[in-house]
Amino acid sequence: MRQKRTIPFEISSMDSLGQGVSKITDKVTFIPKTAVGDKGEATILSEKKGVAFARLNHLTQSSDQRIIPECVHFGTCPSCHYLHVDYAQELSFKKESFQKLFRKLPLPEVEVIGAERRFSYRNRIQLHYSLKSKLLGMKDPQTFLLTPIPHCLIAVPEVLNEVKRLYENDQWLKEAPIAPMEGHVEIYWTNNQLKVSWNKGYAEGGFTQVFEEMNQKLKILLQKNWNPEQPTVLLDLFGGNGNLSDTINYSKRLCVDMYHQLPGDDFLSQDLYEDRALKNVLNELKIRNMKVESLLLDPPRSGLKNLIEWIEVLKPHTVAYVSCDPHTMARDLQNLQGYSFKKAFLIDFFPSTFHFESFIILERNS
Ligand SMILES: C[S@@+](CC[C@H](N)C(=O)[O-])C[C@H]1O[C@@H](n2cnc3c(N)ncnc32)[C@H](O)[C@@H]1O
Repeated sequence: MRQKRTIPFEISSMDSLGQGVSKITDKVTFIPKTAVGDKGEATILSEKKGVAFARLNHLTQSSDQRIIPECVHFGTCPSCHYLHVDYAQELSFKKESFQKLFRKLPLPEVEVIGAERRFSYRNRIQLHYSLKSKLLGMKDPQTFLLTPIPHCLIAVPEVLNEVKRLYENDQWLKEAPIAPMEGHVEIYWTNNQLKVSWNKGYAEGGFTQVFEEMNQKLKILLQKNWNPEQPTVLLDLFGGNGNLSDTINYSKRLCVDMYHQLPGDDFLSQDLYEDRALKNVLNELKIRNMKVESLLLDPPRSGLKNLIEWIEVLKPHTVAYVSCDPHTMARDLQNLQGYSFKKAFLIDFFPSTFHFESFIILERNS
């Protein structure tokens, strides 16, 4: 087998995926689990023109941002990205990355709402399995290798106990379906109940935000910063069970999402990525005699590519965009005309990882 190429590196900045960036060779190299000031040697995992992705081999000089990671799995687990720096540093990387992604847009000062704890917060965890290799763990998106994580620190205790039980004496091998040979299991603590589902969709049984205390903080932020004095006519896209819009002062509301069963009268089941989605929602609004004044949206990571079309047709006074992926959020808002950015928040729903929740409020220029 061909020996993988090693290169020297020196980290000068971090990217928005929590990777250190080195520019001392002919290729800009991205190396997870490094920090600004680290020097050392890395192995190239993949490369294309001008860019390489590498794995840290060893350090010859250690960044003064470094701390000893609390989690025993940190070195190999692909899920957490920042446990080698302290939480203040993690938040500062996140804020920088948010601002960088929005550098071409007139974003106001970003207010950062940190989490009260870095661990024991995730109410669901998805582990991948391979019956062939008899492994259960986190899947590396680059190498596809599985890392067992029986002592994961970010799971809430109820989820962690179940994770431990599955690993104990390879119990999961007795509980996994015999086919397919590869798949995933989701362990989800929801409504004070534990759900373990094999090879089902994400958040099986209904979406809830992963960090409940931060969800409450987001709702308070929405209430304080966006709540209209007069009851508003509200459209809540990707509204789930109405979690976010429940806090808003509305006279009429329509929550749109994909439902097996409608939670109430003010909910509409519609695939929002379908070509006719806007037309169908407009029809429904007409039937309900609703002229939308406020638009709230909280899409999955893929965002809403044609958001501008929605805004141009609906012409809401205010738009509140909540997002778990600032890349797609910046893409969706980049050519918006006639609206001003009023507020921007970074709410750390996902401590220890490069992910965070963003919340932007826009107002129509009069
Ligand atoms: C980030 S969650 C937000 C949910 C809700 N705002 C809350 O706070 O609980 C994204 C939501 O998008 C919904 N969703 C995913 N794909 C969808 C699609 N194609 N059409 C409509 N809704 C979709 C999911 O069901 C989920 O409820």
